[in-house]
Amino acid sequence: MEKSLDPALIEQLKKLQQKYAVMGQDLSSYLDGLLHADYLTYWDYIHLDTLLSLQNPKTQFADEKVFIIYHQITELYFNLILWEIEQISAKEPADEKFFTIRMDRIIRYFQLLENSFAVMVDGMEKEQFLKFRMSLLPSSGFQSAQYRLIEICSTDIINLVHVDFRESMQEYSDIEQQIEHLYWRSGATELASGKKTLTLQQFEKKYLTLFTETGMKYRTCNLRKIYQQNFPSSKAVLDRLREFDQLANVLWPLAHMRSAGRYLHRDPEDIKATGGTNWQKYLPPRFQLIMFFPELWSEQEKQEWGKAAVIKALHT
Ligand code: HEM
Repeated sequence: MEKSLDPALIEQLKKLQQKYAVMGQDLSSYLDGLLHADYLTYWDYIHLDTLLSLQNPKTQFADEKVFIIYHQITELYFNLILWEIEQISAKEPADEKFFTIRMDRIIRYFQLLENSFAVMVDGMEKEQFLKFRMSLLPSSGFQSAQYRLIEICSTDIINLVHVDFRESMQEYSDIEQQIEHLYWRSGATELASGKKTLTLQQFEKKYLTLFTETGMKYRTCNLRKIYQQNFPSSKAVLDRLREFDQLANVLWPLAHMRSAGRYLHRDPEDIKATGGTNWQKYLPPRFQLIMFFPELWSEQEKQEWGKAAVIKALHT
């Protein structure tokens, strides 16, 4: 004798019927579809074949694959960081627990990025790097738009203005004017002439409009605005923001800079691998003095921005 249907299952079917009826749909057609549908596989779900088809070295050097994949991994983490920032910004009303849990995630992602930079620093043969890097000019990680978006969504644009103009521009609230003087717009310039490299020109052409629009959108809901307006004296929040500021603006930049030091430092010829840019003056955090939350640091901490981390790195 055929087994009768479990009452709980009938209940589920009724709920499904209601759900589809609301949209004017016939449940039975959808059940037919279910009958013929394949089971979901892991490889389809995460699009593994597509993912593994996105590494296309430009040269024959084996280590170029390490270089490509590590950049892709970094961009995926940047994407997760932006995803958390977006959720914090959209949360109405702002909620301290929600904020700190998401900040912990962002901190975790940045720690992973900082701690894994050895994949670049120690994970490629210098001889191979210096050769394949020449085939990739004028592209550069400098052109990472997600890195810039993380900055723009984390703080007010004034804190991303070049240090030489930051003080004098405090009074201007015009974002477009501040964007003119973003600190990175004087990076990736030619060491010899001070002119913008093609790397910088192409980056600005493609993304400047997006950066301006994002700056406008986030002027009222970037991380700094949200904590200042909602939990300006919560220790749990401030601790996390300080940690994030250190990771994003000192520790990751220093980990990254170690790779530039390892591959580009010694021989003046090596510098060609960036297209002869001003990177030695540009990359150190102590020159740029970028802080998303400057009010959370003492005058001394600001003056010594990046110094403690450099000393620690020298002794480990
Ligand atoms: C061997 C590995 C690497 C070397 C030698 C290197 C070198 C450089 C140099 C010299 C610059 C300064 C701009 C320029 O002069 O072109 C730069 C900027 C940058 N690179 Fe890398 N890079 C490496 C890996 C990476 C990776 C894995 C990422 C991840 C996306 C990355 C992201 C960036 C970003 C975001 C900037 C701009 C930093 C800022 O504006 O403060 N780089 N890189």
